[in-house]
Amino acid sequence: MKEILVLHGPNLNLVGKREPQFYGSMSLEEINRRLITEGEKLGLAVRCYQSNSEGVLIDALQAAQEWAAGVIFNPGGYTHTSVALRDTIAAIQIPVIEVHLSNVYAREEFRHRSLISAVCMGKIVGFGWKSYWVALNAFARHFQEQETR
Ligand code: DQA
Repeated sequence: MKEILVLHGPNLNLVGKREPQFYGSMSLEEINRRLITEGEKLGLAVRCYQSNSEGVLIDALQAAQEWAAGVIFNPGGYTHTSVALRDTIAAIQIPVIEVHLSNVYAREEFRHRSLISAVCMGKIVGFGWKSYWVALNAFARHFQEQETR
């Protein structure tokens, strides 16, 4: 079974309590639980991890190359600032889908710029926890199409 890393960046451990008007009221544990269940239905084994630290996220992405078929990544605030995370995504040999809970384009100008989008396979924003769900379904279909090619 193919494995997918769902990687959450800074402050996403606070989802559910943090600014619910943008991020919803579901906890990260509940989001992860739903993604694991959805993964099982799609034939994908989902592993979830969260860190507030840029270096730990970089290590997780580098390590994912050894075991994951793809990464669903919400880099939180680092989306808008981190050259280092962009370089890591560009360096690793597995596809990364960028996701955001909120519609970053309906918010402050500084959130409109992502340093990582150009090196990601694609990007999904604004659907709350379902942004991750859409990304997971996109990976499932992508791998199916690769296998039937
Ligand atoms: C976020 C959007 C970012 O701008 C913000 O810094 C976050 C969460 C989202 O999921 O909507 O921490 O990535």
